[in-house]
Amino acid sequence: MNNKDSNKTEQMELFSKLVSQIPMLIYVLDKHWNFKLSEGAALSKIGLKPGEVVGKSARELYKDNTNIISSLDQAYKGIDTSSILKLDDLYLEHYIAPYYNKNNEIDGVVGAAIDVTNRLKSEDELQKTRELQNAILESVPGMIYMYNDLGELLFWNKWHETMTGYNKEELYLKKFTDWFENDEQSLAAINQGLQDMKTKGFGETEAYLECKDKTKIPLYFTARLFKLDGKDYFVGMGVDISNRVAAENKLKVLNHTLEEKVIERTQELSDANIELSEVNQELTAMNEEMQAMNEELSNSNEKMIKMQNFLVESEKMASLGGLVAGVAHEINTPIGIGMTASTHLQDMVNDLLELNKERPLTSEDIIPYLEDIDKATHMIYKNLNRAATLIKSFKQLSVDQSAEPKRLFDLCEYTNEVLLSLSPSMKKTKIKINTICKEPVMINGYPGSLAQVITNLVMNSLKHGYLAEQKGIITIEINRKDPMIEIVYKDDGVGIDNDIIDKIFEPFFTTNRSNGGTGLGLSIIYSIITQQYKGSIKCDSEKGKGVKFTIYIKEDII
Ligand SMILES: Nc1ncnc2c1ncn2[C@@H]1O[C@H](COP(=O)(O)OP(=O)(O)OP(=O)(O)O)[C@@H](O)[C@H]1O
Ligand SMILES: [Mg+2]
Repeated sequence: MNNKDSNKTEQMELFSKLVSQIPMLIYVLDKHWNFKLSEGAALSKIGLKPGEVVGKSARELYKDNTNIISSLDQAYKGIDTSSILKLDDLYLEHYIAPYYNKNNEIDGVVGAAIDVTNRLKSEDELQKTRELQNAILESVPGMIYMYNDLGELLFWNKWHETMTGYNKEELYLKKFTDWFENDEQSLAAINQGLQDMKTKGFGETEAYLECKDKTKIPLYFTARLFKLDGKDYFVGMGVDISNRVAAENKLKVLNHTLEEKVIERTQELSDANIELSEVNQELTAMNEEMQAMNEELSNSNEKMIKMQNFLVESEKMASLGGLVAGVAHEINTPIGIGMTASTHLQDMVNDLLELNKERPLTSEDIIPYLEDIDKATHMIYKNLNRAATLIKSFKQLSVDQSAEPKRLFDLCEYTNEVLLSLSPSMKKTKIKINTICKEPVMINGYPGSLAQVITNLVMNSLKHGYLAEQKGIITIEINRKDPMIEIVYKDDGVGIDNDIIDKIFEPFFTTNRSNGGTGLGLSIIYSIITQQYKGSIKCDSEKGKGVKFTIYIKEDII
Protein backbone atom coordinates (compact mmCIF):
# COMPACT_ATOMS: atom_id res chain seq x y z
CA MET A 1 0.00 0.00 0.00
CA ASN A 2 1.47 3.31 -1.01
CA ASN A 3 1.26 6.51 1.03
CA LYS A 4 -1.56 7.85 -0.99
CA ASP A 5 -3.60 4.69 -0.45
CA SER A 6 -2.78 4.49 3.25
CA ASN A 7 -3.83 8.12 3.60
CA LYS A 8 -7.12 7.33 1.87
CA THR A 9 -7.74 4.34 4.15
CA GLU A 10 -6.98 6.49 7.16
CA GLN A 11 -9.40 9.14 5.95
CA MET A 12 -12.10 6.49 5.36
CA GLU A 13 -11.60 5.15 8.85
CA LEU A 14 -11.80 8.63 10.35
CA PHE A 15 -14.91 9.27 8.25
CA SER A 16 -16.48 5.98 9.39
CA LYS A 17 -15.68 6.87 13.01
CA LEU A 18 -17.17 10.33 12.62
CA VAL A 19 -20.30 9.02 10.95
CA SER A 20 -20.67 6.32 13.59
CA GLN A 21 -20.47 9.02 16.33
CA ILE A 22 -22.95 11.64 15.06
CA PRO A 23 -26.70 10.99 14.97
CA MET A 24 -26.93 10.58 11.20
CA LEU A 25 -26.73 7.93 8.54
CA ILE A 26 -25.33 8.05 5.06
CA TYR A 27 -25.78 5.71 2.19
CA VAL A 28 -24.76 5.27 -1.42
CA LEU A 29 -26.82 3.44 -4.06
CA ASP A 30 -25.45 2.26 -7.40
CA LYS A 31 -27.35 2.97 -10.53
CA HIS A 32 -29.42 -0.14 -9.94
CA TRP A 33 -30.75 1.04 -6.56
CA ASN A 34 -28.45 -1.36 -4.70
CA PHE A 35 -26.76 -0.18 -1.51
CA LYS A 36 -23.04 0.29 -1.94
CA LEU A 37 -22.61 1.97 1.50
CA SER A 38 -24.66 2.26 4.62
CA GLU A 39 -23.06 3.90 7.69
CA GLY A 40 -23.84 6.11 10.69
CA ALA A 41 -24.97 6.03 14.32
CA ALA A 42 -28.55 6.78 13.31
CA LEU A 43 -28.76 3.35 11.62
CA SER A 44 -29.23 1.68 14.96
CA LYS A 45 -32.43 3.76 15.41
CA ILE A 46 -33.96 2.07 12.36
CA GLY A 47 -32.74 -1.33 13.48
CA LEU A 48 -29.78 -1.66 11.08
CA LYS A 49 -26.14 -2.18 11.60
CA PRO A 50 -23.50 -0.32 9.56
CA GLY A 51 -23.05 -2.06 6.21
CA GLU A 52 -25.89 -4.46 6.88
CA VAL A 53 -27.91 -3.54 3.79
CA VAL A 54 -24.92 -3.23 1.44
CA GLY A 55 -25.69 -5.18 -1.74
CA LYS A 56 -29.44 -5.09 -1.07
CA SER A 57 -31.88 -3.25 -3.30
CA ALA A 58 -33.38 -0.07 -1.83
CA ARG A 59 -36.35 -0.47 -4.15
CA GLU A 60 -36.92 -3.84 -2.63
CA LEU A 61 -36.30 -2.77 0.97
CA TYR A 62 -38.52 0.35 0.84
CA LYS A 63 -41.15 -0.73 -1.63
CA ASP A 64 -43.87 0.10 0.90
CA ASN A 65 -42.50 3.56 1.61
CA THR A 66 -43.64 5.66 -1.34
CA ASN A 67 -41.91 8.74 0.05
CA ILE A 68 -38.50 7.12 -0.11
CA ILE A 69 -39.14 5.54 -3.47
CA SER A 70 -40.39 8.79 -5.05
CA SER A 71 -37.48 10.80 -3.57
CA LEU A 72 -35.00 8.25 -4.94
CA ASP A 73 -36.80 8.39 -8.30
CA GLN A 74 -36.29 12.16 -8.36
CA ALA A 75 -32.61 11.74 -7.51
CA TYR A 76 -32.13 9.20 -10.30
CA LYS A 77 -33.67 11.82 -12.55
CA GLY A 78 -31.03 14.30 -11.46
CA ILE A 79 -33.04 16.27 -8.88
CA ASP A 80 -31.84 16.95 -5.36
CA THR A 81 -34.51 16.43 -2.77
CA SER A 82 -34.75 16.97 0.91
CA SER A 83 -37.64 15.79 2.98
CA ILE A 84 -38.61 14.77 6.44
CA LEU A 85 -38.81 11.04 6.57
CA LYS A 86 -40.94 9.33 9.13
CA LEU A 87 -39.92 5.84 10.10
CA ASP A 88 -41.92 4.56 13.02
CA ASP A 89 -41.30 7.11 15.79
CA LEU A 90 -38.28 8.43 14.10
CA TYR A 91 -38.05 11.63 12.09
CA LEU A 92 -35.16 11.93 9.69
CA GLU A 93 -34.24 14.91 7.64
CA HIS A 94 -33.42 13.20 4.41
CA TYR A 95 -31.21 14.65 1.70
CA ILE A 96 -30.81 12.79 -1.60
CA ALA A 97 -28.70 13.79 -4.54
CA PRO A 98 -27.48 11.98 -7.70
CA TYR A 99 -23.81 11.42 -8.39
CA TYR A 100 -22.26 11.35 -11.80
CA ASN A 101 -19.56 9.37 -13.62
CA LYS A 102 -16.88 10.88 -15.76
CA ASN A 103 -19.32 11.14 -18.64
CA ASN A 104 -21.55 13.14 -16.46
CA GLU A 105 -24.09 10.37 -16.43
CA ILE A 106 -25.99 9.54 -13.26
CA ASP A 107 -24.09 6.70 -11.75
CA GLY A 108 -25.97 6.40 -8.56
CA VAL A 109 -27.46 8.23 -5.61
CA VAL A 110 -26.04 9.47 -2.30
CA GLY A 111 -28.23 10.02 0.68
CA ALA A 112 -27.83 11.32 4.17
CA ALA A 113 -30.35 11.44 6.95
CA ILE A 114 -30.08 13.24 10.27
CA ASP A 115 -32.18 12.22 13.23
CA VAL A 116 -34.34 15.28 13.81
CA THR A 117 -36.89 13.54 16.00
CA ASN A 118 -35.99 15.61 19.08
CA ARG A 119 -35.72 18.83 17.15
CA LEU A 120 -39.02 18.23 15.39
CA LYS A 121 -40.66 17.26 18.64
CA SER A 122 -39.47 20.41 20.33
CA GLU A 123 -40.46 22.37 17.22
CA ASP A 124 -43.83 20.70 17.35
CA GLU A 125 -44.19 21.57 20.99
CA LEU A 126 -43.07 25.06 20.26
CA GLN A 127 -45.71 25.24 17.57
CA LYS A 128 -48.33 23.95 19.92
CA THR A 129 -47.23 26.45 22.54
CA ARG A 130 -47.40 29.16 19.90
CA GLU A 131 -50.90 28.07 18.91
CA LEU A 132 -51.91 28.03 22.53
CA GLN A 133 -50.39 31.42 23.06
CA ASN A 134 -52.13 32.66 19.93
CA ALA A 135 -55.42 31.26 21.13
CA ILE A 136 -54.87 32.98 24.44
CA LEU A 137 -53.83 36.22 22.78
CA GLU A 138 -56.87 36.17 20.52
CA SER A 139 -59.21 35.31 23.33
CA VAL A 140 -58.06 38.24 25.47
CA PRO A 141 -60.83 40.86 25.30
CA GLY A 142 -58.46 43.64 24.47
CA MET A 143 -55.67 44.58 22.16
CA ILE A 144 -52.19 43.18 22.75
CA TYR A 145 -49.18 44.91 21.34
CA MET A 146 -45.43 44.87 21.26
CA TYR A 147 -43.43 47.97 20.35
CA ASN A 148 -39.71 48.33 19.77
CA ASP A 149 -37.46 50.96 21.34
CA LEU A 150 -38.44 53.39 18.59
CA GLY A 151 -42.05 53.01 19.62
CA GLU A 152 -42.94 51.09 16.43
CA LEU A 153 -45.54 48.36 16.49
CA LEU A 154 -44.07 44.92 15.79
CA PHE A 155 -46.61 42.50 17.11
CA TRP A 156 -50.32 42.62 17.89
CA ASN A 157 -53.33 40.37 18.18
CA LYS A 158 -56.48 40.17 16.10
CA TRP A 159 -58.39 42.31 18.54
CA HIS A 160 -55.99 45.14 17.81
CA GLU A 161 -57.07 45.09 14.18
CA THR A 162 -60.75 44.70 14.96
CA MET A 163 -60.71 47.47 17.51
CA THR A 164 -58.70 50.04 15.55
CA GLY A 165 -60.00 49.18 12.10
CA TYR A 166 -56.47 49.06 10.63
CA ASN A 167 -55.19 46.01 8.70
CA LYS A 168 -51.85 44.23 9.13
CA GLU A 169 -49.98 46.39 6.59
CA GLU A 170 -51.25 49.59 8.13
CA LEU A 171 -50.44 48.48 11.65
CA TYR A 172 -46.92 47.30 11.06
CA LEU A 173 -44.41 49.81 12.42
CA LYS A 174 -47.22 52.23 13.35
CA LYS A 175 -45.88 54.63 15.96
CA PHE A 176 -47.36 54.25 19.45
CA THR A 177 -47.88 57.98 19.86
CA ASP A 178 -49.79 58.17 16.53
CA TRP A 179 -52.87 56.82 18.26
CA PHE A 180 -53.22 59.94 20.37
CA GLU A 181 -52.03 62.57 17.91
CA ASN A 182 -54.69 65.26 18.43
CA ASP A 183 -55.51 64.58 22.02
CA GLU A 184 -53.21 66.40 24.39
CA GLN A 185 -54.77 64.98 27.50
CA SER A 186 -54.45 61.37 26.29
CA LEU A 187 -50.94 62.03 25.05
CA ALA A 188 -49.93 63.37 28.45
CA ALA A 189 -51.43 60.32 30.16
CA ILE A 190 -49.63 57.96 27.77
CA ASN A 191 -46.30 59.72 28.24
CA GLN A 192 -46.72 59.44 31.99
CA GLY A 193 -47.41 55.70 31.60
CA LEU A 194 -44.32 55.26 29.42
CA GLN A 195 -42.26 57.23 31.93
CA ASP A 196 -43.44 54.92 34.74
CA MET A 197 -42.57 51.91 32.58
CA LYS A 198 -39.06 53.21 32.01
CA THR A 199 -38.43 53.93 35.70
CA LYS A 200 -40.39 51.12 37.35
CA GLY A 201 -40.52 48.55 34.53
CA PHE A 202 -44.31 48.74 34.41
CA GLY A 203 -46.69 51.49 33.52
CA GLU A 204 -50.43 51.84 33.26
CA THR A 205 -52.70 54.63 32.18
CA GLU A 206 -56.03 55.50 30.65
CA ALA A 207 -56.37 57.35 27.36
CA TYR A 208 -58.59 57.78 24.31
CA LEU A 209 -57.32 55.89 21.24
CA GLU A 210 -58.28 57.25 17.83
CA CYS A 211 -59.45 54.50 15.44
CA LYS A 212 -59.20 54.55 11.66
CA ASP A 213 -62.77 55.92 11.39
CA LYS A 214 -61.74 58.76 13.77
CA THR A 215 -63.88 57.45 16.60
CA LYS A 216 -62.19 57.54 19.98
CA ILE A 217 -62.29 54.63 22.39
CA PRO A 218 -61.33 54.98 26.04
CA LEU A 219 -58.77 52.28 26.91
CA TYR A 220 -56.87 51.10 29.91
CA PHE A 221 -53.26 50.59 28.75
CA THR A 222 -50.48 48.59 30.33
CA ALA A 223 -46.83 48.45 29.22
CA ARG A 224 -44.06 46.20 30.48
CA LEU A 225 -40.45 46.73 29.49
CA PHE A 226 -38.34 43.78 28.35
CA LYS A 227 -34.96 43.34 26.73
CA LEU A 228 -34.25 41.02 23.84
CA ASP A 229 -30.80 40.70 22.35
CA GLY A 230 -29.83 43.89 24.16
CA LYS A 231 -32.69 45.85 22.65
CA ASP A 232 -35.61 47.42 24.55
CA TYR A 233 -39.14 46.41 23.74
CA PHE A 234 -42.39 46.87 25.48
CA VAL A 235 -45.46 44.75 25.51
CA GLY A 236 -48.82 45.38 26.95
CA MET A 237 -52.50 45.43 26.37
CA GLY A 238 -55.31 47.91 25.98
CA VAL A 239 -58.72 47.10 27.44
CA ASP A 240 -61.87 48.83 26.30
CA ILE A 241 -63.33 50.75 29.24
CA SER A 242 -66.16 52.41 27.29
CA ASN A 243 -68.82 50.90 29.56
CA ARG A 244 -67.08 52.03 32.70
CA VAL A 245 -66.45 55.52 31.31
CA ALA A 246 -70.06 55.72 30.11
CA ALA A 247 -71.25 54.66 33.57
CA GLU A 248 -68.88 57.19 35.16
CA ASN A 249 -70.14 59.89 32.81
CA LYS A 250 -73.71 58.96 33.61
CA LEU A 251 -72.83 59.16 37.28
CA LYS A 252 -71.17 62.50 36.70
CA VAL A 253 -74.27 63.78 34.89
CA LEU A 254 -76.40 62.36 37.66
CA ASN A 255 -74.17 63.93 40.27
CA HIS A 256 -74.24 67.16 38.38
CA THR A 257 -78.03 67.02 38.11
CA LEU A 258 -78.17 66.18 41.78
CA GLU A 259 -75.85 69.02 42.63
CA GLU A 260 -77.93 71.33 40.46
CA LYS A 261 -81.06 70.10 42.18
CA VAL A 262 -79.46 70.62 45.57
CA ILE A 263 -78.40 74.12 44.53
CA GLU A 264 -81.90 74.74 43.16
CA ARG A 265 -83.53 73.45 46.35
CA THR A 266 -81.08 75.42 48.48
CA GLN A 267 -81.88 78.52 46.44
CA GLU A 268 -85.61 77.82 46.78
CA LEU A 269 -85.17 77.31 50.49
CA SER A 270 -83.18 80.46 50.93
CA ASP A 271 -85.77 82.34 48.80
CA ALA A 272 -88.50 80.91 50.98
CA ASN A 273 -86.45 81.87 53.99
CA ILE A 274 -86.08 85.41 52.74
CA GLU A 275 -89.81 85.53 52.05
CA LEU A 276 -90.47 84.15 55.51
CA SER A 277 -88.20 86.64 57.17
CA GLU A 278 -89.90 89.39 55.14
CA VAL A 279 -93.29 88.13 56.26
CA ASN A 280 -91.85 87.94 59.75
CA GLN A 281 -90.69 91.51 59.55
CA GLU A 282 -94.10 92.53 58.26
CA LEU A 283 -95.71 90.61 61.08
CA THR A 284 -93.39 92.19 63.63
CA ALA A 285 -94.18 95.60 62.18
CA MET A 286 -97.89 94.76 62.30
CA ASN A 287 -97.47 93.51 65.81
CA GLU A 288 -95.75 96.71 66.83
CA GLU A 289 -98.51 98.69 65.15
CA MET A 290 -101.11 96.57 66.89
CA GLN A 291 -99.33 97.01 70.19
CA ALA A 292 -99.28 100.74 69.65
CA MET A 293 -102.96 100.62 68.70
CA ASN A 294 -103.62 98.46 71.70
CA GLU A 295 -101.89 100.93 73.95
CA GLU A 296 -103.88 103.71 72.36
CA LEU A 297 -107.03 101.64 72.78
CA SER A 298 -106.28 100.82 76.38
CA ASN A 299 -105.49 104.50 76.92
CA SER A 300 -108.74 105.52 75.32
CA ASN A 301 -110.43 102.68 77.19
CA GLU A 302 -109.09 104.04 80.44
CA LYS A 303 -110.26 107.45 79.35
CA MET A 304 -113.62 105.98 78.45
CA ILE A 305 -113.91 104.20 81.77
CA LYS A 306 -113.00 107.42 83.53
CA MET A 307 -115.51 109.26 81.41
CA GLN A 308 -118.12 106.57 82.03
CA ASN A 309 -117.50 106.70 85.78
CA PHE A 310 -117.71 110.43 85.60
CA LEU A 311 -120.95 110.20 83.63
CA VAL A 312 -122.37 107.61 86.00
CA GLU A 313 -121.44 109.80 88.90
CA SER A 314 -122.93 112.88 87.27
CA GLU A 315 -125.98 110.83 86.29
CA LYS A 316 -126.27 109.70 89.88
CA MET A 317 -125.92 113.25 91.05
CA ALA A 318 -128.43 114.43 88.49
CA SER A 319 -130.94 111.72 89.34
CA LEU A 320 -130.32 112.31 93.03
CA GLY A 321 -130.88 115.98 92.41
CA GLY A 322 -134.01 115.11 90.46
CA LEU A 323 -135.04 112.76 93.17
CA VAL A 324 -134.54 115.32 95.90
CA ALA A 325 -136.39 117.92 93.86
CA GLY A 326 -139.15 115.34 93.27
CA VAL A 327 -139.33 114.45 96.91
CA ALA A 328 -139.29 118.12 97.91
CA HIS A 329 -142.02 118.84 95.40
CA GLU A 330 -144.08 115.81 96.45
CA ILE A 331 -143.72 116.47 100.15
CA ASN A 332 -144.23 120.20 99.71
CA THR A 333 -147.95 119.81 98.96
CA PRO A 334 -149.07 117.79 102.00
CA ILE A 335 -146.75 119.73 104.28
CA GLY A 336 -148.04 123.05 102.86
CA ILE A 337 -151.65 121.97 103.24
CA GLY A 338 -150.87 120.72 106.77
CA MET A 339 -149.15 124.04 107.59
CA THR A 340 -152.14 126.07 106.31
CA ALA A 341 -154.53 123.84 108.26
CA SER A 342 -152.41 124.11 111.42
CA THR A 343 -152.16 127.95 111.02
CA HIS A 344 -155.91 128.07 110.59
CA LEU A 345 -156.27 125.90 113.67
CA GLN A 346 -153.89 128.08 115.59
CA ASP A 347 -155.88 131.18 114.52
CA MET A 348 -159.06 129.60 115.73
CA VAL A 349 -157.46 128.60 119.04
CA ASN A 350 -156.08 132.15 119.39
CA ASP A 351 -159.59 133.60 118.72
CA LEU A 352 -161.05 131.41 121.46
CA LEU A 353 -158.25 132.33 123.87
CA GLU A 354 -158.85 136.05 123.22
CA LEU A 355 -162.60 135.60 123.79
CA ASN A 356 -161.88 133.69 126.98
CA LYS A 357 -159.93 136.69 128.30
CA GLU A 358 -163.07 138.87 127.90
CA ARG A 359 -165.53 136.47 129.46
CA PRO A 360 -165.78 132.85 130.30
CA LEU A 361 -166.44 130.78 127.21
CA THR A 362 -169.78 129.18 126.71
CA SER A 363 -170.57 126.10 124.73
CA GLU A 364 -172.25 128.43 122.16
CA ASP A 365 -168.84 130.09 121.71
CA ILE A 366 -166.90 126.79 121.31
CA ILE A 367 -169.23 124.63 119.14
CA PRO A 368 -168.90 126.66 115.89
CA TYR A 369 -165.10 126.34 116.27
CA LEU A 370 -165.13 122.69 117.01
CA GLU A 371 -166.34 121.75 113.50
CA ASP A 372 -163.56 123.82 111.93
CA ILE A 373 -160.99 122.45 114.41
CA ASP A 374 -162.08 118.92 113.47
CA LYS A 375 -161.75 119.67 109.76
CA ALA A 376 -158.34 121.29 110.29
CA THR A 377 -156.95 118.50 112.43
CA HIS A 378 -158.29 115.95 109.92
CA MET A 379 -156.57 117.81 107.10
CA ILE A 380 -153.38 118.02 109.12
CA TYR A 381 -153.50 114.28 109.84
CA LYS A 382 -154.24 113.37 106.22
CA ASN A 383 -151.42 115.47 104.85
CA LEU A 384 -148.91 114.40 107.44
CA ASN A 385 -149.83 110.82 106.64
CA ARG A 386 -149.24 111.52 102.97
CA ALA A 387 -145.86 113.01 103.74
CA ALA A 388 -145.01 110.06 105.95
CA THR A 389 -145.90 107.58 103.13
CA LEU A 390 -143.76 109.54 100.70
CA ILE A 391 -140.81 109.57 103.05
CA LYS A 392 -141.21 105.82 103.75
CA SER A 393 -141.24 105.01 100.03
CA PHE A 394 -138.36 107.36 99.43
CA LYS A 395 -136.36 105.54 102.10
CA GLN A 396 -137.03 102.22 100.33
CA LEU A 397 -135.60 103.61 97.12
CA SER A 398 -132.13 103.39 98.59
CA VAL A 399 -132.54 99.62 99.23
CA ASP A 400 -131.08 99.17 102.63
CA GLN A 401 -129.36 95.75 102.55
CA SER A 402 -128.56 95.63 106.23
CA ALA A 403 -132.21 96.00 107.02
CA GLU A 404 -132.80 92.25 106.99
CA PRO A 405 -130.46 89.24 107.21
CA LYS A 406 -129.59 87.28 104.08
CA ARG A 407 -130.89 83.70 104.05
CA LEU A 408 -131.53 80.68 101.85
CA PHE A 409 -135.17 80.28 100.84
CA ASP A 410 -137.37 78.69 98.18
CA LEU A 411 -138.68 81.51 95.96
CA CYS A 412 -141.75 79.51 94.89
CA GLU A 413 -142.81 78.75 98.41
CA TYR A 414 -142.05 82.28 99.55
CA THR A 415 -144.04 83.84 96.68
CA ASN A 416 -147.10 81.80 97.72
CA GLU A 417 -146.69 83.05 101.30
CA VAL A 418 -146.55 86.68 100.13
CA LEU A 419 -149.63 86.15 97.95
CA LEU A 420 -151.41 84.68 100.96
CA SER A 421 -150.70 87.89 102.87
CA LEU A 422 -152.27 89.81 100.00
CA SER A 423 -155.46 87.70 100.01
CA PRO A 424 -157.50 90.32 102.02
CA SER A 425 -156.91 92.80 99.19
CA MET A 426 -157.59 90.12 96.56
CA LYS A 427 -160.87 89.16 98.13
CA LYS A 428 -162.29 92.57 97.29
CA THR A 429 -161.69 91.90 93.55
CA LYS A 430 -162.58 89.32 90.92
CA ILE A 431 -158.96 88.72 90.08
CA LYS A 432 -157.22 85.35 90.53
CA ILE A 433 -153.52 84.70 90.85
CA ASN A 434 -151.76 81.62 89.44
CA THR A 435 -148.25 80.68 90.37
CA ILE A 436 -146.37 78.25 88.16
CA CYS A 437 -143.36 76.60 89.74
CA LYS A 438 -142.15 73.26 88.36
CA GLU A 439 -139.58 72.76 91.10
CA PRO A 440 -138.34 74.51 94.20
CA VAL A 441 -136.08 77.43 93.26
CA MET A 442 -133.63 78.11 96.06
CA ILE A 443 -132.26 81.61 96.51
CA ASN A 444 -129.67 82.92 98.90
CA GLY A 445 -130.79 86.50 99.38
CA TYR A 446 -133.14 88.94 101.09
CA PRO A 447 -136.73 87.64 101.04
CA GLY A 448 -138.21 90.92 102.25
CA SER A 449 -137.14 92.83 99.14
CA LEU A 450 -138.64 90.18 96.85
CA ALA A 451 -141.88 90.31 98.89
CA GLN A 452 -141.96 94.03 98.16
CA VAL A 453 -141.39 93.34 94.42
CA ILE A 454 -144.29 90.85 94.29
CA THR A 455 -146.55 93.07 96.40
CA ASN A 456 -145.88 96.17 94.30
CA LEU A 457 -146.51 94.27 91.04
CA VAL A 458 -149.76 92.80 92.34
CA MET A 459 -150.90 96.10 93.81
CA ASN A 460 -150.15 97.85 90.52
CA SER A 461 -152.25 95.27 88.63
CA LEU A 462 -155.09 95.78 91.08
CA LYS A 463 -154.77 99.58 90.98
CA HIS A 464 -153.99 100.24 87.35
CA GLY A 465 -154.79 97.09 85.40
CA TYR A 466 -158.44 96.41 86.06
CA LEU A 467 -161.60 98.36 86.34
CA ALA A 468 -163.81 97.79 89.34
CA GLU A 469 -165.49 94.42 89.23
CA GLN A 470 -163.43 93.40 86.21
CA LYS A 471 -162.38 89.75 86.13
CA GLY A 472 -158.79 88.93 85.57
CA ILE A 473 -155.97 86.46 85.96
CA ILE A 474 -152.50 87.21 87.14
CA THR A 475 -149.78 84.58 86.44
CA ILE A 476 -146.42 84.37 88.15
CA GLU A 477 -144.04 81.81 86.64
CA ILE A 478 -140.71 81.08 88.25
CA ASN A 479 -138.04 79.10 86.42
CA ARG A 480 -134.37 78.36 86.84
CA LYS A 481 -132.48 79.66 83.78
CA ASP A 482 -128.90 78.95 84.80
CA PRO A 483 -127.04 80.89 85.95
CA MET A 484 -130.07 83.13 86.67
CA ILE A 485 -133.62 82.75 87.90
CA GLU A 486 -136.42 83.98 85.69
CA ILE A 487 -139.63 85.47 87.06
CA VAL A 488 -142.35 86.22 84.53
CA TYR A 489 -145.20 88.33 85.90
CA LYS A 490 -148.29 88.75 83.71
CA ASP A 491 -151.72 90.28 84.05
CA ASP A 492 -154.47 90.46 81.48
CA GLY A 493 -155.63 93.95 82.35
CA VAL A 494 -155.70 97.21 80.40
CA GLY A 495 -152.01 97.29 79.76
CA ILE A 496 -149.76 100.33 79.46
CA ASP A 497 -149.81 102.95 76.78
CA ASN A 498 -146.88 102.96 74.38
CA ASP A 499 -146.26 106.65 75.13
CA ILE A 500 -145.52 106.08 78.79
CA ILE A 501 -144.02 102.59 78.88
CA ASP A 502 -140.46 103.99 78.82
CA LYS A 503 -141.15 106.10 81.91
CA ILE A 504 -142.81 103.66 84.27
CA PHE A 505 -139.56 102.81 86.11
CA GLU A 506 -138.74 106.48 86.73
CA PRO A 507 -139.25 107.60 90.35
CA PHE A 508 -142.46 109.60 90.90
CA PHE A 509 -143.91 108.64 87.52
CA THR A 510 -147.52 107.78 88.12
CA THR A 511 -150.79 108.02 86.33
CA ASN A 512 -152.54 107.82 89.67
CA ARG A 513 -151.36 110.84 91.65
CA SER A 514 -154.89 111.99 92.30
CA ASN A 515 -155.60 108.75 94.10
CA GLY A 516 -152.47 108.95 96.24
CA GLY A 517 -150.04 107.17 93.89
CA THR A 518 -146.44 108.17 94.57
CA GLY A 519 -144.95 106.76 91.36
CA LEU A 520 -142.22 105.11 93.38
CA GLY A 521 -143.46 101.48 93.28
CA LEU A 522 -141.80 100.40 90.04
CA SER A 523 -138.66 102.41 90.67
CA ILE A 524 -138.25 100.66 94.00
CA ILE A 525 -138.70 97.29 92.18
CA TYR A 526 -136.09 98.38 89.62
CA SER A 527 -133.57 99.25 92.38
CA ILE A 528 -134.10 95.92 94.17
CA ILE A 529 -133.74 93.82 91.00
CA THR A 530 -130.78 95.60 89.45
CA GLN A 531 -128.81 96.64 92.53
CA GLN A 532 -129.57 94.08 95.18
CA TYR A 533 -130.11 91.00 92.97
CA LYS A 534 -127.71 92.09 90.19
CA GLY A 535 -130.40 91.26 87.63
CA SER A 536 -132.64 92.90 85.08
CA ILE A 537 -136.30 93.80 84.56
CA LYS A 538 -138.19 94.79 81.44
CA CYS A 539 -141.82 95.45 80.70
CA ASP A 540 -143.72 94.47 77.57
CA SER A 541 -147.21 95.76 77.14
CA GLU A 542 -149.78 97.07 74.74
CA LYS A 543 -152.87 98.99 75.50
CA GLY A 544 -155.69 96.48 76.13
CA LYS A 545 -153.46 93.45 76.27
CA GLY A 546 -152.23 93.37 79.83
CA VAL A 547 -148.65 93.68 81.04
CA LYS A 548 -145.70 91.31 81.15
CA PHE A 549 -142.73 91.93 83.39
CA THR A 550 -139.70 89.66 82.73
CA ILE A 551 -137.28 89.61 85.61
CA TYR A 552 -133.87 87.91 85.96
CA ILE A 553 -132.13 87.70 89.31
CA LYS A 554 -129.02 85.98 90.68
CA GLU A 555 -129.66 82.95 92.85
CA ASP A 556 -126.90 83.88 95.22
CA ILE A 557 -126.30 87.53 95.88
CA ILE A 558 -123.17 88.77 97.53
N1 LIG B 1 -150.23 96.40 85.95
C1 LIG B 1 -150.34 97.62 85.47
N2 LIG B 1 -151.29 97.92 84.56
C2 LIG B 1 -151.39 99.14 84.01
N3 LIG B 1 -150.56 100.17 84.33
C3 LIG B 1 -149.60 99.95 85.25
C4 LIG B 1 -149.43 98.67 85.84
N4 LIG B 1 -148.37 98.77 86.68
C5 LIG B 1 -147.91 100.02 86.63
N5 LIG B 1 -148.64 100.75 85.78
C6 LIG B 1 -148.40 102.16 85.39
O1 LIG B 1 -147.13 102.51 85.82
C7 LIG B 1 -147.18 103.68 86.67
C8 LIG B 1 -146.08 103.67 87.66
O2 LIG B 1 -146.27 102.67 88.63
P1 LIG B 1 -145.71 102.83 90.04
O3 LIG B 1 -145.97 101.62 90.79
O4 LIG B 1 -144.30 103.25 89.92
O5 LIG B 1 -146.48 104.01 90.60
P2 LIG B 1 -148.00 104.04 91.14
O6 LIG B 1 -148.49 102.66 91.22
O7 LIG B 1 -148.69 104.91 90.18
O8 LIG B 1 -147.79 104.67 92.50
P3 LIG B 1 -147.64 103.86 93.92
O9 LIG B 1 -146.85 102.73 93.54
O10 LIG B 1 -147.05 104.79 94.79
O11 LIG B 1 -149.03 103.49 94.27
C9 LIG B 1 -148.52 103.62 87.21
O12 LIG B 1 -149.00 104.89 87.61
C10 LIG B 1 -149.34 103.07 86.03
O13 LIG B 1 -149.68 104.07 85.15
MG1 LIG C 1 -147.46 101.31 92.25
